[in-house]
Amino acid sequence: MVDQMTRTVDHARVTAILDRELAAYRARSPRSAQLHARALQSLPLGVASSFQTYDPYPLFMTNARGSRIWDADGNEYIDFDMAFGVLAAGHSHPLLAEALQHRVANGTCYTFPVEDGVALAEEIKRRFGTDLVRFSNSGTEATMDAIRVARGFTGRSKILKFEGGYHGHHDDVLISIQPAREAMGPIDAPHSVPATAGMPASRLDETVIAPFNEPELVARILERHRGEIAAIIVEPVQFNIGVVPPRAGFLQRLRELATEHGAVLIFDEVKTGVVLAYGGATEYFGIQPDLICLAKSIGGGVPIGAFTGRGEVMRAIEKVPDRTAEEAGIEHSTLAGGGTRVAHLGTFNGNPLSMTAGLVTLTQILTRDAYPPLHALAQRLTEGCQAILDQYGLPGYAINVGPKGCVMFTPARVTNYRDLIGLDGDLWAASFFYLLNRGILLPPGADDQWTLSVQHTEADVDRYLAVFGAWAAEIAA
Ligand SMILES: Cc1ncc(COP(=O)(O)O)c(C=O)c1O
Repeated sequence: MVDQMTRTVDHARVTAILDRELAAYRARSPRSAQLHARALQSLPLGVASSFQTYDPYPLFMTNARGSRIWDADGNEYIDFDMAFGVLAAGHSHPLLAEALQHRVANGTCYTFPVEDGVALAEEIKRRFGTDLVRFSNSGTEATMDAIRVARGFTGRSKILKFEGGYHGHHDDVLISIQPAREAMGPIDAPHSVPATAGMPASRLDETVIAPFNEPELVARILERHRGEIAAIIVEPVQFNIGVVPPRAGFLQRLRELATEHGAVLIFDEVKTGVVLAYGGATEYFGIQPDLICLAKSIGGGVPIGAFTGRGEVMRAIEKVPDRTAEEAGIEHSTLAGGGTRVAHLGTFNGNPLSMTAGLVTLTQILTRDAYPPLHALAQRLTEGCQAILDQYGLPGYAINVGPKGCVMFTPARVTNYRDLIGLDGDLWAASFFYLLNRGILLPPGADDQWTLSVQHTEADVDRYLAVFGAWAAEIAA
């Protein structure tokens, strides 16, 4: 219905609205502009992570509480970005703030194990139906370590990842994230396209690319690499190209193919874990992978990562299967067991601050009963946005999976990265700055999505809808 009713957008009008909103943005955020100008003298692009930058300059933030965040000029926003989805618990949840105050006063790093780390591992096992857990400090470390475990376990070196999937910023996976159309190759044999300068060409051979949501093409690609693939790594919902859910049966087919090919199936649940459901995408879709990567929301806002999975696979950290120990070829190393073990290391792994943050977040805030209201709130936002798009006949559709969603400014439903290429970036930018200037903060990228927290209210969602409705009316006028 949406497609049939869609009107053609007047792009001159969209550009005029965008220009006006950019001027308003500059007028209301002079302090951020100054701070960014200063930051450019000390930090490349003026930010600590290149994801934080956008034109004309990013807002600098000073404080946040619950569903609210304030910028350096004192402007208040309802935060629907929630730190790229880190904050399903909301900003500074009172239970977390209290526990962390105690922790900060009693030492934040020992590099000796702590009981909260054991309890947090037990909680993660309960939620995800897994046997063993290891902690790291970010989603990048979680996927990097899970891939190494898979390689150690299987004795193979290649991995298969999906075009459009993002798994952090290490070399194995910073490939074919949003490749240019002319570089991406045919859909049945996508090219491995580096997403960064500085990538050794030799690394590209190790990462085989497949199209998301195309099970038969995945089967054929795996067949071409039979006996070579250590791991299939997948975001169960592609949340780094908007919101792209798996087609019915796709994850199940990946499970079967991984088993058939002796590859380790890794669900990258950095965005989905403890957000879509109590047991993440694993519970939500009812498919059990071999390894699961976690980060973001499990720490309630404190840096953390983890990976968890089947005991047989995870025990490669204690001893790799005999058949692969020799093949590892580094028996002469004594570091962490040399070639007989997968090294999993990290000074900050399991630090008491992160462990307490994770334990309180999972056992006291994101409890089982937190999820139904979160889903209902997300439904209200998605249905409200869709009704507005329908009312004004704008190209695009509203979509969510659990408490994460967005408006996809594409004429047709996106099933994998190649469909996203038709996205109307101007329309997205006009809506981003229009909403921001009226106190609704979304992630600064058309490829990201809103995340609701347990501290958002119906009034927050209704405010979003009111502003989005006013924007749509102006675009369509
Ligand atoms: C699915 C997924 N995996 C991994 C990562 C990397 O996590 P981090 O930024 O904590 O290294 C991200 C970050 O956005 C992600 O979305």
